[in-house]
Amino acid sequence: MRHLMSPLDFTTQELDKLFDLAGDIERNPGKYAHACDGKILATCFYEPSTRTRLSFESAMTRLGGRVIGFSDANSSSAAKGESVSDTIRVISCYADICAMRHPKEGAPMVAAERSGIPVINAGDGGHQHPTQTLTDLLTIRSLKGSLGGFTIGLCGDLKFGRTVHSLIHALIRYDNIRYLFISPEELRVPDYITDMLRGRGIPFREVIRLEDVMPDLDLLYMTRVQKERFFNEEDYVRLKDFYILDAQKLARAKDDMLILHPLPRVNEISVEVDDDPRAAYFKQAQYGVYVRMALILTLLELA
Ligand code: CP
Repeated sequence: MRHLMSPLDFTTQELDKLFDLAGDIERNPGKYAHACDGKILATCFYEPSTRTRLSFESAMTRLGGRVIGFSDANSSSAAKGESVSDTIRVISCYADICAMRHPKEGAPMVAAERSGIPVINAGDGGHQHPTQTLTDLLTIRSLKGSLGGFTIGLCGDLKFGRTVHSLIHALIRYDNIRYLFISPEELRVPDYITDMLRGRGIPFREVIRLEDVMPDLDLLYMTRVQKERFFNEEDYVRLKDFYILDAQKLARAKDDMLILHPLPRVNEISVEVDDDPRAAYFKQAQYGVYVRMALILTLLELA
């Protein structure tokens, strides 16, 4: 039995296979419409979500399976003090696979250790968000043609943004990628990530002004300032609008630069950018369904 805790749980060869499957699902949805007949997905979300929970539910439904779960810890027995370990042991009696989001880092891993079914980390605190990373990689591979040979700018809250941490971990296995980390001083990418890049001899630069590096970028990965991870409101208010991508800033970008964002967005991308052909963030959300369909099939050994 396999779980997914980190994007590194799959080799790059396994990821290629997963993305090929996601591509086939996109082109031939009817072929997979009954692939999960009789199977049940449990979505156990102890933290708010729109995309991850609903794309998992859409994925399982499109595969012919069914979905059970909760979207709020307060409507589960966690509110009465039940541990994640006990909860997953019980869910294992009710479902065939579980997607879990939790505010505590490592909670899905604790669940996986006690689980009788595959557990998918759907985001744990500020740590990892591997299925968002699978979504991001599939989007880049599909729209750029390959997972390597580009300059990527990651912009915004690089300290608390778990999607950024997961994506960097996944991308370091691909060749010839240059990283530009664009953030205010207070929201710099954690040292353990820059230490890891230095240790591997992978080039990166840290800058504060997005405008200064815009012409260099092949991919711009925007992120929201993670309000829920701040210790005080004052700091959040001071930093939340540090970056606002608008048409004026984009004027200096390459014509084929891709703009990605895991969403939800707050103010960091102006709505006027949505109609720019380089804006790929809603398409990215669509890829999230295909890749989660492929992941469910893979972990249930139905692919
Ligand atoms: N990208 C993402 O994780 O969105 P949700 O928080 O809405 O699931």
